[in-house]
Amino acid sequence: MTNPVLGFSKKTKEEKIKWLASHYLKDDPDAISVLQKYWNPDANLQKLHDDFIENTITNYYLPFGVAPNFLINGELYALPMVIEESSVVAAASNAAKFWLDKGGFKTEILGTTKNGQVYFNYFGNKASLIAFFDEVLPTLRTSIEGIQKNMKKRGGGLLNIELKDSTAELEGFYQLHCTFETLDAMGANFINSCLETIARTFEEEAQINPAFHDENDCPEVVMSILSNYVPECRVRAEVSCPISQLDPDPDKAQEFADRFVRAVAIAQTETRRAVTHNKGIMNGIDAVILATGNDFRAVEAGIHAYAAKDGHYRSLTYATATEGEFRFGIDIPLALGTVGGLTSLHPLVKLAFEILQKPNAQQLMQIVAVAGLAQNFAALRSLVTTGIQKGHMKMHLMNILNQMEANVQEKEKAVDHFKEQTVSHSAVVEFIENLRA
Ligand code: MEV
Repeated sequence: MTNPVLGFSKKTKEEKIKWLASHYLKDDPDAISVLQKYWNPDANLQKLHDDFIENTITNYYLPFGVAPNFLINGELYALPMVIEESSVVAAASNAAKFWLDKGGFKTEILGTTKNGQVYFNYFGNKASLIAFFDEVLPTLRTSIEGIQKNMKKRGGGLLNIELKDSTAELEGFYQLHCTFETLDAMGANFINSCLETIARTFEEEAQINPAFHDENDCPEVVMSILSNYVPECRVRAEVSCPISQLDPDPDKAQEFADRFVRAVAIAQTETRRAVTHNKGIMNGIDAVILATGNDFRAVEAGIHAYAAKDGHYRSLTYATATEGEFRFGIDIPLALGTVGGLTSLHPLVKLAFEILQKPNAQQLMQIVAVAGLAQNFAALRSLVTTGIQKGHMKMHLMNILNQMEANVQEKEKAVDHFKEQTVSHSAVVEFIENLRA
């Protein structure tokens, strides 16, 4: 048992590592050296990364890949993707190439507003609360003028404040439901600053309002925070082509379309399949979100809630094959930023934006939706034809070889051998062991 450490955040990086090593790493010099190996030799760059969070002791690398040939609304993009899973970038690239000569991806913004809530308790007379809300509304708006000055100049800001009665779900539970336009900013800090000011003003005004003479009947704020559920900030991406273009063999093309549509229908119906289906979509979405320094947890939470919007968790994509036409699309909520946060700080995030030709938030929403759709197309295409493992294990081969510390010659021989053979962990181990024997 170690004792709790006090003032840890005040220690230097070296002191933190020393403490960690002595308490949890048996003072292993190799462990310390691993941590140090990942320090960046450029002290300024390292300092930048150190300052992103508290108690940074080293950097954690993930591969930064690129999936080219994405034709989106007639423009060609190469998508920057940060992800650890071997097959994701290859799958995205395959899907992009497949749709390149079939018109590419078409996208549409369905809305851009974000929202946040001031949650409060009120056990008094509802009519008094409504009258007070109507009276205080202009003051609430004025209270955030300072915060939203710049945002307003650019055409954004607070759009609306609505009083919501949620007492049917929870006794005494009311909300101020606030909607915002945050333009190219994801807007979390902006929205939260507005909400906290609105909440403070609301409570202060209530306390001096004669309508709430009895203390028990005065609205009391519990908390204020943006919502990561953003169904009004939504994007759609689609691909379509004549069924005959799906495969040179007409029978195979029809069979593929039918099996594909059926696979999506299964994911619309069965939660167990829908979760995995949507996980595959998130492979593409998260990879671009990470590369562009956006908040993947917010995006994940919002998208999964949207997948369950009718009370049943379903596929985020839809597919039809009717009247000779194959159509496949996705409709997802996405609150993204192309300014603020890490976007102007992390050199690789800046580079990702350069690669994407400096998109604004709406363009990034469209690119990200395409990444999700492409990933799902690639996964379903494998699943309803060859099965997933063929392509997946081929991409995983290098990881198995690296685990076995295979040298260059062994790797070359293995790659050559497994061009024709099915990759499995045991088959690779056996192949390398035979080589070494
Ligand atoms: C693996 O990361 C993703 C898949 O499972 C997605 C799917 O099943 O649709 C292949």
